[in-house]
Amino acid sequence: MFVKQIINSLYTNLKGGILFKISHSFIYWAHHLSRMQMKFLYTLTANIYMLYLEIVTTTRCTLKCKHCIGDIPEIKANEQYSMSFEEYKNYLDNLLKNIKRLRLVRILGGEPLLNKDIDKIIEYTLKQTKIKQVYLVTNATVMLSDSVVSALKKYPKKSTVDISNYSANKDLLSRLKIKEIVEICNRNNITVNCPESYLWNPVSPVKYHERNTEENRRYYRNCASLCVGMHKLPDGSAAVFPCLRAGTLLLRKIGNQIEKKDYFILNNNLQKEEILNFHLNEDFDACRYCNFLKDKRKQVIPAIQK
Ligand SMILES: C[S@@+](CC[C@H](N)C(=O)[O-])C[C@H]1O[C@@H](n2cnc3c(N)ncnc32)[C@H](O)[C@@H]1O
Ligand code: SF4
Ligand code: SF4
Repeated sequence: MFVKQIINSLYTNLKGGILFKISHSFIYWAHHLSRMQMKFLYTLTANIYMLYLEIVTTTRCTLKCKHCIGDIPEIKANEQYSMSFEEYKNYLDNLLKNIKRLRLVRILGGEPLLNKDIDKIIEYTLKQTKIKQVYLVTNATVMLSDSVVSALKKYPKKSTVDISNYSANKDLLSRLKIKEIVEICNRNNITVNCPESYLWNPVSPVKYHERNTEENRRYYRNCASLCVGMHKLPDGSAAVFPCLRAGTLLLRKIGNQIEKKDYFILNNNLQKEEILNFHLNEDFDACRYCNFLKDKRKQVIPAIQK
C-alpha cells in the first residue's frame, strides 16, 4: 500500500513536471514549425498551405459537458446556430479561393449530426480537391443517417468517422452508440477511428487574466491547441479563430476587447495576407481569457455532465 502511494506520488509529480514539460516542448516546436513552413511556402510560392481547420457546423449538442473544450454548453439558446448548406458552401468557397491546400478538416460542433444539412456539408467538403482529409467528429449519441453514410462512402480514401469515446464515463454508457456506428462504418468500408476512452483536461470557467504581450505570446506558443476553429457569427458571416473556445467567446459577447486580429472573416474580400498574418500572430486576446497551462495538469473523466 505504502509502495503504491510512493509510485502514485512519483507518477503525479512526473506528469505535472518533467513529462508535462517534454510533451509541451514537442507541441511548442510542432506549432512553431508549422507556422514557419506556412511563411516559407508563402514567400517562395505566394500560396497559402493551411494545415488544419475545425468547423463548428452547429452549436447544438446532445450533451452538456462540464469541461467542453469549445465551451459549447455555455452558449445561450438565443446565441445558438446551425449553418445551412448554402451558408457553409459560401464560407468554404471564400476560404478555398485563397489557399492552395488544406491538409485536414474536422467537421464537428456541438454534435455535427444534429445539423440537418450535415450530409450535404460532408459531401461538399470531400469533393474539394484542395482538401486532403476530412474527419467527422461525433460524440456517438446520434446514429449516422443513410445520407451521411452515402456521402462518406463516396470518398473512402479521404473520409474518416472520428468517434470521441466517452465510455470511461459510466453515466453515459446507455446513450453511446459506439458499437452501432463502428459496425455501420465497417459494413460500408468507411474508415472509423475509435480510440480508447481517455481522460480530459479540465477547463476552468472563462476569466480575464492580466498578461502583457510577451506573457500572452508565451501562453499561446505553449498551447496544445494546434487547431484553428471556424464559427458562424451572429451577423450571418463566419470567421476563423485560434481555437473553438476563442470563437465561442465572441458568440457569448465576452471580452469587448476581442480584436479583429483574433480572427479572419470568410467573405468575398478575404485576402491571402489576412490568412497568413492570422497564422503568424501569437498575441490573441482570447488567450487572456484562458488558463489552459494550469488546467492541463489534473485530468478528469471525459464528458462529465453539468
Ligand atoms: C468540442 S468536441 C465537438 C465534437 C463532438 N461534440 C464530440 O464531443 O466529439 C471536439 C473534440 O474535443 C474533445 N474535447 C472536448 N473537451 C475536451 C477536454 N476538456 N479535454 C480533452 N478533449 C476534449 C472531444 O472529446 C472531441 O473529440
Ligand atoms: S465536448 Fe461535449 S458538450 Fe462539447 S461539443 Fe462535444 S459532446 Fe457537446
Ligand atoms: S484561447 Fe488561446 S491559449 Fe486558450 S486554448 Fe485557445 S488558443 Fe490556446
